[in-house]
Amino acid sequence: MEIKITKTQTPKVMPKESELGFGKYFSDHMFVMDYEKDKGWINPRIVPFERITLHPASTVLHYGSEIFEGLKAYRAENGDVQLFRPMENIRRMNRSAERMCLPQIDENDFLEYLTEFVRCEKDWVPHSFGTSLYLRPFMFGNDETLGVHSVARATFMIIASPSGSYYKEGINPVKIMIETEDVRTVRGGTGYAKCGGNYAASNRAGERANQKGYSQVLWLDGVERKYIEEVGAMNVMFRIGDEIVTPKLTGSILPGITRMSCIEVLKGLGYKVSERLLSVDELMGAIKSGELKEAWGCGTAAVVSPIGKLMYEDVEYVINGNEIGSITKQLYDILTGIQWGKTEDKFGWVYKI
Ligand code: PLP
Ligand code: COI
Repeated sequence: MEIKITKTQTPKVMPKESELGFGKYFSDHMFVMDYEKDKGWINPRIVPFERITLHPASTVLHYGSEIFEGLKAYRAENGDVQLFRPMENIRRMNRSAERMCLPQIDENDFLEYLTEFVRCEKDWVPHSFGTSLYLRPFMFGNDETLGVHSVARATFMIIASPSGSYYKEGINPVKIMIETEDVRTVRGGTGYAKCGGNYAASNRAGERANQKGYSQVLWLDGVERKYIEEVGAMNVMFRIGDEIVTPKLTGSILPGITRMSCIEVLKGLGYKVSERLLSVDELMGAIKSGELKEAWGCGTAAVVSPIGKLMYEDVEYVINGNEIGSITKQLYDILTGIQWGKTEDKFGWVYKI
C-alpha cells in the first residue's frame, strides 16, 4: 500500500548526543495506520510527530488491548543506517497481536513501512557509538464502545526516539533484586507477548526495588515461585561453572531477540549453553559455592548488561567482584560490533536501510 508522507514545517533540533538518555526525545515524524474489521489496514501515512486524540471509551483506555515492539536504527562507522534482525520483531509483534486479539500485519508490508519511516528519520540516527534511534512500533484497540470483546478498530503507529544507554550505569554492572511477592505473569497468561499490561503489573515491584537502590527486579515463575524467569526489560544468563544457563521459554518469558542472538553467538564460540529451568535455590547454591562466575541481562534497550549485585530475601550477593565478566564483555563486543557496523556480520543479521 502506498504511504502518504506529510513533512513537518517545524523541524526540531537533535539534542546533544551525550545528553540523550533513553526515550526522552522524539524525532520529527511518526507512522500511523488504521484498521477497520471490514476494510483491513488502511491509510498508511507518515505525519509530523504530534499528540493523538482518542475517544474516551477507546478500548485501550479501559481494557488494555495494547502491544509494542522495540528495535534500534544504528549508525554504522561508514555512515550507513542499519537495523538488527527486524523481521524477528515483526514476527513477535504478530504473535503478541494473536494473543491479545489484535489484527495481524503482513510481514512484508510491516518491513516496508518501517524502512520508509527510518529513511524519513535517518538524520535522527545519532553518530556516537552506543547511541541509536530507538524505534517503537505499537498497536492498540480503538473501538469507541465499552463492551468487552476483541476489537473491530485498531491503530498501528511507529515513533522514534534518539537514545543513549538505557541504564545510567551504561556497561557498568547493575544491581538487581529477586522479587518474592509479586509475579509478572503465569503460564497461559501473556508473558510471551509484549503487551503493555505486563509492564503495568511490574511497576509495584520495580518501585520497591528502586527504593532499595536496585535498578530492576528479577522475576520468579508465577506458579511455584521457584524458577528464575527474566528481568523487567531484559532476559538473563548465568555462567555456572562451564555452563551458560538461561531460563527456557515456558510461555511466561519474553522470547528476546538479543537472547536468541546471544545463544547463537555463544554456541558458535564453542560454549555450552543450556536453556533450562534454573531454580533460585540452585542459583543461590552456585553463588555460595563460588560456581557462579558471571551474570548478565540482554535486551534491545539494555544491550548486554552485567549484573554486579543480586539481592534475595534481603541479603545482597556480589557477583564477580562487581566487575564485568570475560564472557559478558566478549558478548557485548561481538553484538555491538555487528550492530554498530564495526565488525563483519557473519550471521547476516544486519538489515541496511
Ligand atoms: N524481557 C522483557 C520483559 C523485555 O521487555 C525485553 C525487551 O524487549 C526483553 C526481555 C529483551 O527482548 P529483546 O532482546 O527482543 O529486546
Ligand atoms: C526493549 O529493550 O526494546 C524494551 O522494550 C524494553 C523496554 C521495556 C524499555
